[in-house]
Amino acid sequence: MEPILLVHGGAGFINDDRKATELLLGVKEAAKAGYKVLKSKNSLLDGLEEAVRVMEDNEIFNAGLGSVLNLDGEVEMDASIMLGSNLNAGGVTVVKNIKNPISLARRVMEKTPHFLLAGEGALKFAKREGFEILSDGALVTEARKLMLENYKKKLAEKKLTNTGEAELGTVGAVAFLNGQVAAATSTGGYEGKMVGRCSDTSIIGSGTYADDESGAVSTTGHGDSIAKVCLAHDICKEMEAGKSAQEATEICVNKMLKRLENTAGAITLSVKGEIGIAFSSNRMSWAYQIGNMLHFGINKNEHNVEIVN
Ligand code: GLY
Ligand code: GLY
Repeated sequence: MEPILLVHGGAGFINDDRKATELLLGVKEAAKAGYKVLKSKNSLLDGLEEAVRVMEDNEIFNAGLGSVLNLDGEVEMDASIMLGSNLNAGGVTVVKNIKNPISLARRVMEKTPHFLLAGEGALKFAKREGFEILSDGALVTEARKLMLENYKKKLAEKKLTNTGEAELGTVGAVAFLNGQVAAATSTGGYEGKMVGRCSDTSIIGSGTYADDESGAVSTTGHGDSIAKVCLAHDICKEMEAGKSAQEATEICVNKMLKRLENTAGAITLSVKGEIGIAFSSNRMSWAYQIGNMLHFGINKNEHNVEIVN
């Protein structure tokens, strides 16, 4: 079977059509870049890391550069990665001043006995591993500063509650290669979160899961709910019980909406190479490449196909 690399650029309330177009461009670019590396290096992890890095470096997404800001106006990021063949996993949470948290998560997987490193410890490990430590504020964009100001104004006027509805643009990828799967996810969390808040994205089983006995999943959406239902693991368990990737993804995303009344999205690849894409928010950008065909969409029931060289 052909390799597959599927990415998402976040589920959420996206009502601005210009923003939707930019998100679509971003996920298409990431899927193509990741697919190229997946094939040329014949490596699930290299393909996933490349796809997620491309989105972390694109400030339209809420990961890496352009992450949303916590209540103190800082960027604190989370990421995780998992390989289905041996269940190896690594993650970072509440990490600052690292350009590509997904690469640090991979290093945690490959160079430590742990599945998750937090804050100061993660930074110390990053320094030891030769990662560049950026100056304070280097990942903060003007657009996110403005967003936080508006958010605080509305909060003061009691026009919204701090429930994470402004989450937008978490990124993730799943890949299939030679009958094996892996998954990766990265986020800045949600706007106006408390300092020190950990997200589902850093947690194996919630934001990211991969097992060659079922499949690979990356989730996005209301993280505090996703963590409670262990969404990524839930989808894998449905596949293990015989559901297709699409059925499993829809069942679990809808179950979370019903149970907790918060929205999410997920992308899934089964070990059979089946694709699952579902979201309960109004939009979620996604794209995948198989061979020379690029598939993508952002609205419900939207599925475009383009030939790539
Ligand atoms: N980092 C240890 C593991 O992959 O389980
Ligand atoms: N799902 C991303 C977050 O809640 O931060």
